[in-house]
Amino acid sequence: MITVLNNYSLKNHNTFNIDISASKFVEVTRVQDLIYHFNHRDDNGLPILVLGGGSNVLFTKDFNGEVLSPVIKYIEIREENDEFVYAEAGAGVIWDDFVEFCVGKEYYGVENLSLIPGTVGAAPVQNIGAYGAEAANVIQEVKGVYVDSGDSFVFNKEQCRFGYRASIFKKSLKGKVVITSVLFRLYKNAKLNIDYGDIKKKLEEYGSDDIYSVRKAIVEIRRSKLPDPGETGNAGSFFKNPEITAEHFNELKLKYPSMPGYKSEYGMIKVPAGWLIDKAGWKGKNMGRAGVNPRQALVLVNLGGATGNDILRLAEAIENDINEKFGIRLEKEVNVI
Ligand code: EPU
Repeated sequence: MITVLNNYSLKNHNTFNIDISASKFVEVTRVQDLIYHFNHRDDNGLPILVLGGGSNVLFTKDFNGEVLSPVIKYIEIREENDEFVYAEAGAGVIWDDFVEFCVGKEYYGVENLSLIPGTVGAAPVQNIGAYGAEAANVIQEVKGVYVDSGDSFVFNKEQCRFGYRASIFKKSLKGKVVITSVLFRLYKNAKLNIDYGDIKKKLEEYGSDDIYSVRKAIVEIRRSKLPDPGETGNAGSFFKNPEITAEHFNELKLKYPSMPGYKSEYGMIKVPAGWLIDKAGWKGKNMGRAGVNPRQALVLVNLGGATGNDILRLAEAIENDINEKFGIRLEKEVNVI
């Protein structure tokens, strides 16, 4: 089914709850509808924006173009052997429903990604990650359709060019394709990753360390730090964690001995942006209706009635301040439209 709505408010389609509208909103429920739509679109030239759960966008003005919402919903087991199960999910499946399904069947690999907002189709775009896991670890294939031609594609993992909160879909293919489904390769034998942060502590508290307890621990940790977008508009981490050279890190470490840092590729050090923003004194502060979450400074929030530009102004003030204080340029994780 294809539903087309004109001048449609996106307030309920972005987790920052910004009230702007799209000139056209198109919802499709099947892959063949999407292909039909691309072959019969009369307003080529209008930009297309694919919106999953809207949990990683900040709208700063009305969108003069077509917002496409693929609500393709199914989960199917494609193949299974002693070691792996291959589960395919439609792009419109709510990400956490997929995690819940896998945990319920004791398929290992996505439990650490519990409660991340958004949809399955958005997961590969920014290679969602949390608590030492990322989507790229379990993605086997991504299927989709090219906007221009209506042709279908199937990408293997290498073709997706995954990186830290990055993929080909966020870079060269941005705005050019719509993801319709994702094939995941999950483990059938217990393979848990509980080294990050406070997970172990929680499991000790529960006295159990199975997949259900890991999901429970992560849900509790996230709820304690990250505001529920249903109550306070936000898009999770607003910035990426920046990478700096070892020299720069060592220099800063002399001035700020408590500064955390983790080795990443090519000898760079990844520094938590949340720590920098916190240290710079922004935690819990606000500029008008835009605020910095008091429990995790990496999350910017809509205190109610903020415009996209209010949030952007706060983000830019933070960026400038972090650059002045630490000589580090923060990069936005959220897609500003
Ligand atoms: N920190 C502070 N003050 C703060 C926030 C963080 O000092 O206000 C320090 C913490 O004490 C800790 C470090 O910074 O030492 C890291 O904090 P945390 O474990 O909360 O993780 P993060 O690096 O800030 C990343 C992801 C999150 C993900 C968490 C947990 C990015 C950009 N963010 O945050 O992802 O949930 O790890 O794995 O990589 C998202 O992408 O939307 C998101 C929420």
